[in-house]
Amino acid sequence: MDGGSFVFHDLAPGEESFRDAVLAGLSGDPKALPCKFFYDARGSALFEEICRVPEYYLTRTEIAILEAHAGDIAAHIGPHARVIELGSGASRKVRILLGALDAPAAYVPVDISREHLRGAAAQLAEDFPDLPVIAVCADYTKPFVLPQLPGRAGKRVGFFPGSTIGNFEPEGVVSFLSHCAALLGRGGEILIGADLKKDPAVLTAAYNDRAGANAAFNLNLLERINRELDGDLDVAQFRHVAIYNEAKGRMELYVESLTEQSARIAGARFHFARDELIHTENSYKYAIPEFRALAARAGFRAVDAWTDRGELFSVQYFRRE
Ligand code: AVI
Repeated sequence: MDGGSFVFHDLAPGEESFRDAVLAGLSGDPKALPCKFFYDARGSALFEEICRVPEYYLTRTEIAILEAHAGDIAAHIGPHARVIELGSGASRKVRILLGALDAPAAYVPVDISREHLRGAAAQLAEDFPDLPVIAVCADYTKPFVLPQLPGRAGKRVGFFPGSTIGNFEPEGVVSFLSHCAALLGRGGEILIGADLKKDPAVLTAAYNDRAGANAAFNLNLLERINRELDGDLDVAQFRHVAIYNEAKGRMELYVESLTEQSARIAGARFHFARDELIHTENSYKYAIPEFRALAARAGFRAVDAWTDRGELFSVQYFRRE
């Protein structure tokens, strides 16, 4: 393959139906909606806003760690690596890594969002003209097979930044990392961004920012229901709730009904009691040894880990046993 080339593989991932998930989730007791549906175009823009509010330290802290330790990380990875990013989005953070690596053999962004992936991968190929970019449209949360990659000699290195791993249940972390282990093969390594346990006041502030970006992001799920499922939810009669569950080590997000009310969604009627909570997301926070124990269950041995001075966030490196 020529340097700087860009190839697109469409594995035609089946998308879970938003309608089915909403009807099932609002029929349950307690009510719940899957957090993966936060990210329509409006939700993705609101998430970008969250990343800019002063209280939400995660994004800028992770970027600072990657920038400060790119040399060490690159030394672990070595030359001719094939970098596979799971849920690559705008492929922004990986640029720090790719810029530090010694002659990477390929960059493989994997994402379910087809057109977004195509645009981001084409741009990256333009900006790194010596790097073959092999974009794969797939649902990275489920097992899939990678196309043949260039640079047989270099190791496969997974990249999973952003603490998205915290949005899985702990058992889900083990099964997701097990499928990463299979994808990366023998000698495979993975770099993961994971948010750390800390003072609950810092956590609750991050998810209850003063500008209201988290609230808008959370409530957008209800607006999305109205937009896409012919809903008539009175969104002003719900509020954003984000609390830290110390026993479970996770932030929990809900939307709370401010009054007794009902709404029609996709032709079905739903009732909400006053103060009733709809669970929308968990965001787990791990101490480094806790996260290493989960990774070990998936066959990954800890190699190194980097944090910021305040020990807010971690970037952790693992090798397949
Ligand atoms: C994408 N994920 C890591 C974010 C988090 O912090 O769990 C999603 C988010 N939810 C509310 N604010 C941000």
